[in-house]
Amino acid sequence: MSTPKHPTRLMASAKHTAVPLAGLAVLLAWTAAPTFAQEDEDPEGYAITNQTVIESCQRCHTLDDEGRMTRISYLRKTPEGWQTSIRRMVSLHNVGLAPDAAREIVRYLSDRQGIAPEELRPALFEVERRLTDHDYEGDSGVEFTCIQCHSMGRVMTQRRTKDEWGLLIATHRALYPLVDRFQFRRSGPAPTEPGPDGRPPDARHPMDKAIDHLSSVYPLESTQWSAWSATMRSPRLAGTWALSGYEPGKGPIYGTVTISQDPDDSAAFTTTASYVYAESGEKVEHSGQALVYTGYQWRGRSNPGTDSQLREVMFVERNQREMSGRWYTGAYDEIGPDVKLQRVGGEAIVSGVFPKAVARGESVEVRVFGGGLTAGSGASLDFGSGVTVVSVSGPSDGSLRVSLTIAGDAQIGARDLFAFGSLLEGALIVHDGVDRIAVTPEAGMARVGGGGNFPKGYQTYEAIGFDDGPDGESDTDDDLNLGRVDVSWTVEEYAATFGDDDVQFIGSMRQDGTFVPAIDGPNPERVGSRNNVGDAWVIATHRTADGEELRARAHLLVTVPLYMRWEPWQEVSR
Ligand code: HEC
Ligand code: HEC
Repeated sequence: MSTPKHPTRLMASAKHTAVPLAGLAVLLAWTAAPTFAQEDEDPEGYAITNQTVIESCQRCHTLDDEGRMTRISYLRKTPEGWQTSIRRMVSLHNVGLAPDAAREIVRYLSDRQGIAPEELRPALFEVERRLTDHDYEGDSGVEFTCIQCHSMGRVMTQRRTKDEWGLLIATHRALYPLVDRFQFRRSGPAPTEPGPDGRPPDARHPMDKAIDHLSSVYPLESTQWSAWSATMRSPRLAGTWALSGYEPGKGPIYGTVTISQDPDDSAAFTTTASYVYAESGEKVEHSGQALVYTGYQWRGRSNPGTDSQLREVMFVERNQREMSGRWYTGAYDEIGPDVKLQRVGGEAIVSGVFPKAVARGESVEVRVFGGGLTAGSGASLDFGSGVTVVSVSGPSDGSLRVSLTIAGDAQIGARDLFAFGSLLEGALIVHDGVDRIAVTPEAGMARVGGGGNFPKGYQTYEAIGFDDGPDGESDTDDDLNLGRVDVSWTVEEYAATFGDDDVQFIGSMRQDGTFVPAIDGPNPERVGSRNNVGDAWVIATHRTADGEELRARAHLLVTVPLYMRWEPWQEVSR
C-alpha cells in the first residue's frame, strides 16, 4: 500500500505518549488549512454541490476542477457516520458550525453519499443499537483487530476508496498513538516460509491486510449505490400503519401509527402512535417526529424531550408498505421494542393474535390485532383444523375479540390465520402443555452505575416455554415455542473462585425479569474494596398447569460502566 501524504500520517510519528489525549492535542493545535494530497491520479469521487458544505469546509478540504472536495468526496456513510465526522471537525479542528448548518450538511451528505439499503441490511444491528454478538463473515483477522474498541458495525456502515481506508487507519494512529503497540501490531515476526499450499507467505503488515481487505469488500463505488441513488427520493409514508412489535421483558405490542408528511419538507414526518402491551394491557399513546435520510433510513423521536422519549430507528422497505427497526431508550439504549409497521391500505391487515399459545381442549378468548379491522362474520376468520371460532366481537381498542374452542384431539403445531383476504403465518400455536422452559438471553450483561457520573445498565431476561412437539422429545427441531411464561426469578452464585460471594454485592433481580445492578465505585465492604462487579446465574422457575416445577438458568455478568462513549445517533434523530 502506498503511503498517503496526509498530515495525520506525520502526526502519527510524533512522539508517542501514554495518553491518547496527547494525540488529540496535536490535532487540536493544528487548525491552519492542511493540504490533503490525493494519491490516485484519477480518483473516483463525488462532486459536492451544496453551498453550505463548500463554504464551511473548503478552507481545509479544497475543491478541485470537478467539484470534488478532498477527503469528503471519497466516502459514503450513514447519517450517524457523517455526524461523527462533523462532530470531530467541530471538537478537534475548531470548525465553527451553527446547528442548522450541521444538520443540513449531515442530510446532504447522507443523501448524496449514503449507504444503499442492501449495503446497510447486514449492519442494521449497529444503527439499531443492538447489543448483539455480531459474526462478521469477512476476514476474521481484520475483525479481531477492529473490534477491540468498537463494534464491526462501525466499519460495515462505511464505504471508502483505498486511499481513504488508509487515511482512516492513519487517523486512528494519530488519535490513539498506543494503537500500534497494542491492537494494530503483528503478533510475532512476519512469516518467511511458504504456506502448506506452497504459496509464498503473506508477509503484509496486519494493517496493510486490513486496508486491502476493506477496500475490496467496502469500496467507494458499488452497483447497489449507483442503482439506489438513481431512484432515491423522499418516501411517501403519510397514512395509517399497523404496528406490531416485541419488547423483551414485556412481550408483544400491537397498535397503529398515523404518519403525516411535513408540508415544507418531504423527508420530514410527524407521528401519533397508539398501542397496547398485549400481556399486561398497558396502553401507550405518543406523538413523535422523524426525518428520513437516504430515502429509507427513518430517524425519529417519540415523546421528544420527555422522560418517556424513545429513539426510533427504522428501515423503510423499497415498496414503502413496510418498515421495521427498533424504538429504544435507556442509558445504554438497552430498553425498548423491536417494531414492524405495515401500511393499512384498502384491505384490513392482521398483525397478530394474543395469546398466541392455546392448549388442546381449552375454550379461550383471543384478541386479533391489526389495522382497518371490521367486525366480519366468524366465518371470515379461519384458524385451520381443530380450532373452532365460536364468536367474534369488536373491533374495539384496535382488536377483535374472538372466542375459540380447541378440539381435544387437535394436532399440535402452529396454525396460519386466514382473514380479510390475507394470511398471517404461525398466528396461533396449539400445544399440549409446557414441557420445558429456557431463559433468554443465555448470557447477559449489566453495568454497575448510579454512584457518580455513570448510569446503570440494566439487563432484562425472559423465560420462554416450549412444548416438546410431535416427537415428544426435548430440544429437537419440532419443539414449539409458546412465548413468555410466568416465572419467579432468583439469583445464584456462579462459582468462579473459592468462597465466591458476588451475589451479595452485584445487585438484585426484579420479579419482572430485569436485573438491577448495584451502585458503582469501590465498595469498602468487599474484600479489596472491589467494585460491585461479578458473575451469577439467573434462575427462572415455572409451575406448569399440572403443578410440575420447571427451572432454567442463564449467565449474568455485572461489569463496570462504559467509561468512554460516542453517540452520534443522539443528534441525527429529528
Ligand atoms: C480547520 C480545518 C478543517 C475544516 C474547516 C474542516 N475539516 Fe474535515 N478534516 C480536517 C482534518 C485535519 C481531517 C483529518 C483528521 C480527522 O479525520 O479528524 C479532516 C477529515 C475529514 C473527514 C474524513 C474523516 C474520516 O471519515 O476519516 C471528513 C469526512 C471531514 N473532514 C469532513 C468535513 C466537513 C463536512 C467539514 C465542513 C463542515 C470539514 N471537514 C471542515 C480538518 C478540517
Ligand atoms: C484503539 C481503539 C480502536 C481500534 C483498535 C479501532 N478503532 Fe476505529 N475508532 C475508535 C474510536 C475511539 C472511534 C471514534 C472516533 C470518533 O468518534 O471521532 C473510531 C471510529 C471508527 C470509524 C468511524 C470514523 C469516522 O470518522 O467515520 C471507523 C470506520 C473505524 N473506527 C474503523 C476501524 C477499523 C477498520 C479498525 C481496524 C483496522 C478500527 N477502527 C480499530 C477506536 C478504535
